[in-house]
Amino acid sequence: MSFLPKNVRTRLTLWYVLALTFILIIYASVSISLVYINLRNNLDDQLQQDYEIVENLMRVMPDGSVKIESEDDPYFHERWFQIWSSDWKMLYESSPFTGKSLPSISREEESTSGFHFQSMQLNNNVRVRILSGKINIEGKWLFIRLVRSEERLWNELSGFIRLMLIALPIAIFIAGFGGYFLTKKFLSPIDEMTAKVRKIGEENLKERLPVINPDDELGNLAHVFNDMLERIQKSFERLKRFTSDAAHELRTPLTAIRSIGEVGLQDYKDAKHYREIIGSMLEENRRLTHLVDNLLFLSRADAKTLDKHLIKLELKSFTQETVEFIQALAEEKNQIIIIRAEKEITVIADRALLKQALLNLLDNAIKYSPENSEIIVSVDTEHNNAAFIEVKDNGPGIPEEHHEKIFERFYRVDKGRSREMGGSGLGLAIARWAVTAQGGKLTMESKTGEGSSFRITLTLT
Ligand SMILES: Nc1ncnc2c1ncn2[C@@H]1O[C@H](COP(=O)(O)OP(=O)(O)O)[C@@H](O)[C@H]1O
Ligand SMILES: [Mg+2]
Repeated sequence: MSFLPKNVRTRLTLWYVLALTFILIIYASVSISLVYINLRNNLDDQLQQDYEIVENLMRVMPDGSVKIESEDDPYFHERWFQIWSSDWKMLYESSPFTGKSLPSISREEESTSGFHFQSMQLNNNVRVRILSGKINIEGKWLFIRLVRSEERLWNELSGFIRLMLIALPIAIFIAGFGGYFLTKKFLSPIDEMTAKVRKIGEENLKERLPVINPDDELGNLAHVFNDMLERIQKSFERLKRFTSDAAHELRTPLTAIRSIGEVGLQDYKDAKHYREIIGSMLEENRRLTHLVDNLLFLSRADAKTLDKHLIKLELKSFTQETVEFIQALAEEKNQIIIIRAEKEITVIADRALLKQALLNLLDNAIKYSPENSEIIVSVDTEHNNAAFIEVKDNGPGIPEEHHEKIFERFYRVDKGRSREMGGSGLGLAIARWAVTAQGGKLTMESKTGEGSSFRITLTLT
């Protein structure tokens, strides 16, 4: 509806005024009709009283003519009435009536018994109300007609209509103005909110919208907005932290490569020495590549561009294969990886993602537990509707206060130690993402000094 004003405030007022006008017109019409009916009823009552007076005072003479007693009473000087015989001969006419004629009245209707009221317009445009009635006097039927001017009735009615015509627009005007200011007042929080939102940018994401009345719709809107700002602020901060952490992590191996190179260039060394330097550089390069791979994985995960291929997966053989893949690392530390899997369990999972998660858990277990220790990998079902793979080690364990944090990106309990072992604190974050992306859960139980156990739980098919 393009012809409506764009502004909600004006639009609301317009609708409001329109509805009010409609209601007031109905109200005025009903009132005018009621006033008219009331005035006419009064007139009819007066006519009826006149009728009774005439009826009581009229006398039929032996010659058939009609006389009115106390004819000189001033009352009769103002009354219009006629008395007709049953064969429609005029028997009597009051003095004000003389010289005036009534338009033809349906005699048939008059002949029936009872009172008959009708309204008419005389030749001189005067509107009149006529009462006619039929009476029986000494065996003879006579008709009485009484007339009263409706002038007063119409004067009063038009006075009332005029009043309505003046009062109605005034009422609508006042209500319209009132409505406009009220809507303006009620909608002013929206203006405040708009002004505030317009000012919120990345540098002041901490700002919140004013909540004027928390219980009304606008308060609720402001609340919802504030919640959204909170979420945006958090994810923005997370992103900022992630970028600066990533830059920081990338800087360490790069600095290492540079200083190894600089040391190597300081003075001439033998070939063996250079081989060692190149080896160290390659080692740092390997770390760097690993870190970049992990960062790429996470950024794809965040952007939701990682493809998932859910297939039927036999957990026992899958675990054996994955352990074999990393076996060499454990052997370097003389560790034994024991697989406890009684039966073959089939789940629906993404092979690559699950392998990534399990490898990260095994890598941690190998890295953080001492030489010659045992790592137990169990595959089983729980509560009849879930399957799990659990990696349990005899390492140092994780203190309680770090339990949830170790799943955060770049979080490490002991940063120095983790870096020495080539970690960047992304392993568990990736593992948790990979498991939850396929509808599973990654949980952990650990006590300082008693080792840790990480469990991937997947729902059974
Ligand atoms: N099996 C474990 N035993 C002891 N600590 C662990 C174990 N697994 C993880 N952690 C702790 O959790 C931190 C985060 O693990 P992770 O995300 O894999 O990062 P990274 O291995 O690169 O340090 C590690 O730095 C370590 O402090
Ligand atoms: Mg790790």
